Amino acid sequence: MRIIFFAGKGGVGKTSVSAATGIKASEMGHRTVVMSLDVAHSLADIFDLDRELLDKNKGVPIEINKKLFIQELDIQEEIQRYWGDIHKYLSSILYTTGLDEVLAEELAVLPGMEEISLLLYINQYVKKKEFDVILLDCAPTGESLRFISIPTTLEWYMNKVFKLERTVVKYVRPVAKKVYDVPLPGDDYFKAIEDLFEKLKGVDKILVNPEITTVRLVTNPEKVVLKETQRAFMYFCLYKMSIDAIIMNRMLPDNIQDDYFKGWIKGQQYHLGEAKDFFNPVPIFPVDLFAGEVIGYNDLKQLAERIYQNENPLQRFYKDEPYRLIKQNASYRLQLKLPFITKKDVELNKLHEELVIRIGGFKRHILLPRQVASLDAVKAKMEGEYLNVLFEGDANGGEKE
Ligand SMILES: Nc1ncnc2c1ncn2[C@@H]1O[C@H](COP(=O)(O)OP(=O)(O)OP(=O)(O)O)[C@@H](O)[C@H]1O
Ligand SMILES: [Mg+2]
Repeated sequence: MRIIFFAGKGGVGKTSVSAATGIKASEMGHRTVVMSLDVAHSLADIFDLDRELLDKNKGVPIEINKKLFIQELDIQEEIQRYWGDIHKYLSSILYTTGLDEVLAEELAVLPGMEEISLLLYINQYVKKKEFDVILLDCAPTGESLRFISIPTTLEWYMNKVFKLERTVVKYVRPVAKKVYDVPLPGDDYFKAIEDLFEKLKGVDKILVNPEITTVRLVTNPEKVVLKETQRAFMYFCLYKMSIDAIIMNRMLPDNIQDDYFKGWIKGQQYHLGEAKDFFNPVPIFPVDLFAGEVIGYNDLKQLAERIYQNENPLQRFYKDEPYRLIKQNASYRLQLKLPFITKKDVELNKLHEELVIRIGGFKRHILLPRQVASLDAVKAKMEGEYLNVLFEGDANGGEKE
């Protein structure tokens, strides 16, 4: 079983790279599904599929060949399939509050429903062993990161809020009926949430198991895109998802002689260098800009060759955690593996929200989460092969992970 997430800023090439990886995996004989949350449904367009075929198969896996399937989640279909009771309740509340019915239905699509649907599929596919390989073409970074926190949030909700809510509703219903117009959720609603929770059980473990799941960040050699990639890198690290490659897409081939592109090529080379400082030791795979759009099976297959060359695309290209951030009450400890290094070789600088670590000619930038960036780095210590940087807050005390 292998799951790979392809995440990155809008337009960098996530869908193309996911599809290309799918082709390569399926040609190696693995039963593969490429799933997309993209509302624009470009996965099917990239494979140049017939619209009619798609409309008939909304939201279900479509066969590209015996081993390769694509699945574009369609939130309306998902609501009918999985969300019926929750959706009905929410839209009825919104409707009661005076919104017009169509608008209420639209608004009752909770943020996160798409992501939860995706998690449901992952869990189902893993448990029933329906596919050997699941590749996920994520929505642009900001939204795609939300899914990581869903299992924990849901668990918290079930333990802390759900039971209480159910009990309260049971006692309040007879009174409330007389006093308020707003309907209270019925048993169907609670049952639906319970079922959902049951179906999601275990998916959080799958996501943070690096033997199964890794993340590949797709990016371009441009300043603004790289900044967002750095942020994504940090978040995936925080949630303990393993990042095993950075795909640097759309590199201009350096044999272009045209003067017009000289500045572009130079800039791209500079940003490729920067990216090495940001993401080291996670490997970077540069990919050339094709002479035209990448459309259809053959183009995608060629894209896969350019990304992975002769390597197996399903291997884990990087196995360790790039870094760990451990919370100790109000303080944070950043832990980095730096074998063969002593403290006197290391130079640390904190620049705004970045920590710059220099070791000889080698430089590494680590983007810090906001709450850590606001603290001052006070102590650095080598312990075994780990460098520990302590960002001290107000309180002192015991350590918790
Ligand atoms: N290496 C490349 N060379 C040439 N064109 C490319 C390359 N990679 C992607 N493209 C083209 O760039 C466009 C955007 O790619 P793609 O749809 O894969 O990006 P995306 O990150 O999925 O975008 P979105 O965020 O909108 O979903 C497509 O037209 C695709 O064919
Ligand atoms: Mg896309």
